[in-house]
Amino acid sequence: MRILLAPMEGVVDHTMRDMLTTFGGIDRCVTEFVRVTSTLLPKKTYLRLCPELANGCKTPVGTPVYVQLLGSDPDCMAANAVRAAEMGALGIDLNFGCPAKTVNNSDGGAALLRTPERLYNVVSAIRRAVPNHVPVTAKMRLGYADKLLAMENALACNDGGATELVVHARTKTDGYKPPAYWEDLAALRNAIDIPLIANGEVWTPEQFHRCREVSGCEDVMIGRGMVANPGLASQIVHGGERMAWRDIIPLLIRFQEYTIDTYEPRYTANRMKQWLNYLTSNYTEAVTLFEQIRKIRDGQQVLGMLWKESTLF
Ligand SMILES: Cc1cc2nc3c(=O)[nH]c(=O)nc-3n(C[C@H](O)[C@H](O)[C@H](O)COP(=O)(O)O)c2cc1C
Repeated sequence: MRILLAPMEGVVDHTMRDMLTTFGGIDRCVTEFVRVTSTLLPKKTYLRLCPELANGCKTPVGTPVYVQLLGSDPDCMAANAVRAAEMGALGIDLNFGCPAKTVNNSDGGAALLRTPERLYNVVSAIRRAVPNHVPVTAKMRLGYADKLLAMENALACNDGGATELVVHARTKTDGYKPPAYWEDLAALRNAIDIPLIANGEVWTPEQFHRCREVSGCEDVMIGRGMVANPGLASQIVHGGERMAWRDIIPLLIRFQEYTIDTYEPRYTANRMKQWLNYLTSNYTEAVTLFEQIRKIRDGQQVLGMLWKESTLF
């Protein structure tokens, strides 16, 4: 049984990957997507989205990170995958699930789910291009507007040579609206030779176990549930209660310090607000803290509020 941390554009950057792997339980992370159109991207693009490349492609606690590519041109995707592999990527992950209009209009993400042979072409071109020891994984949704091509798309990834397949159990049209259709994953899992990793709407240990039971999948990928409860993977693996707020605060302080070091000043307060917003679904203390920092624009001042919060315990 493995737990993977889901890629989340604009949320799960290298700092957040560092934070969310701190408590253990996460077996692998994926970067935000590298958008591939018609050029071989410079190394600095890869280092920006995956600074872990300079550290054996692992988070500080040693969790492997795969580099995610988003695009539709097989040759260009392959050239970029080779570059990422040469730079030390521990795996290449392909995004066939992004629902964003701008991405879909320019022929990327979930848009490819309408033509399974295009998935096959991208996966197989990359599989041929990168060395055998580098895993090539794919992440898709159940479909674009409906689920009719779910099986063909899963088989296209399988036959194209993907090492593993993650399926977010919803269509592009479903967006992020509950429920996730875990039951639809079982037939796909039985039809392919590679591991299928279930994804979507896992927020608690109970949902994690239910998702595995219903989908028949060994492994589960979790996104928002981990951001909302940084101790979730550890709780799933070791049991026990949800992590206490007082144990979350040092993590928030570390995150804010890193954010101040890494990001332009105008972003440093907003990133904490974004995270607190997720945490409010589990911690009433986060609701209060969010209200206190809501109007603050200075990251250092936010850090001061977090230190103050830490003295309450
Ligand atoms: C803000 C946000 C950004 C996301 N960015 C990506 C991305 O870059 N690549 C990707 O494959 N999926 C992306 N996803 C989808 C997640 O990886 C995941 O499939 C989805 O959130 C369902 O899982 P969850 O219910 O555990 O969050 C994103 C989701 C959210 C909410």
